Amino acid sequence: MDRPFFLMTDPGCYDVSYRINPWMKPDAWTQAQARAACEGSRDLRRALESAGARVETVGAVRGLPDLVFPANAAVVLDGRVLLARFRHPERQGEEPVFRAAFQKLKARGLVREVLDLPDGLFHEGAGDAIWDADRRLFWCGYGPRSSKGAIAVVRRTFGQETVALELASDRFYHLDTCFCPLAGGKVLYYPAAFTPAALATLRARVAEPDRIEATDEEAAAFCVNAVNLGPRVVMARAPESLRAKLQARGYALTEVDLGPFILSGGAAYCMTLRLDRTSAPAALRHAAE
Ligand code: ARG
Repeated sequence: MDRPFFLMTDPGCYDVSYRINPWMKPDAWTQAQARAACEGSRDLRRALESAGARVETVGAVRGLPDLVFPANAAVVLDGRVLLARFRHPERQGEEPVFRAAFQKLKARGLVREVLDLPDGLFHEGAGDAIWDADRRLFWCGYGPRSSKGAIAVVRRTFGQETVALELASDRFYHLDTCFCPLAGGKVLYYPAAFTPAALATLRARVAEPDRIEATDEEAAAFCVNAVNLGPRVVMARAPESLRAKLQARGYALTEVDLGPFILSGGAAYCMTLRLDRTSAPAALRHAAE
């Protein structure tokens, strides 16, 4: 198999002009932020490329600023794309744009199948269905954005195990804001984001030595929203405490200035969507993961 393959979106029409999560601050948005966003997006892409990845870009669309978060566009595994349905009307206009983008990828042979979610369910893509390549299952967040009922659709569509985790707060509204499986089986997570039942589920599945807990400060810096490629973890600027924790466990950090995206409640992981994930056991995969 080839290099890790990501989708990103051109940040040309990105801004913070509405508020659908508590991090979003339309009043703090300036032209300088817009320029910094373009640089941040470019630096993130370069960081992924230097880690060996290939990046495909979706074009910007005026009036759809959160299109820069393609993690929310779909769940993708084995070349199958399960399209998202957004909870908030502000983001529903992204659905046809991403559908068309995936159809184009299909025409080019870069994905195999584009599938719809049944009516009446919300699901915000890989933001709430995170593939754990070591455990070979989807960790699925629900509550603030994705419907609990959509998790069974993810399970059936991909024929893979799912573990449901209920999110306790609007601040950590997608699973990817508070949970990040890392190569080798470790998991970086922010305990306060989960209901007590979800926390018990998580801890029953992940042995204590494999748990890396993020502090309030680390979670608020959107560092749990990270992209992991083997020993490398790409994330927004990290507090020293987190850098030390990850380095002590053998991970190498690449930090990118993503301040303008944090103003919208997003960072590295949700600015990307991994397209090349497969369910094949590790022995059948190449080292790229
Ligand atoms: N403003 C966007 C929203 O509220 C940010 C999405 C970030 N995505 C993510 N998967 N965390 O939907």
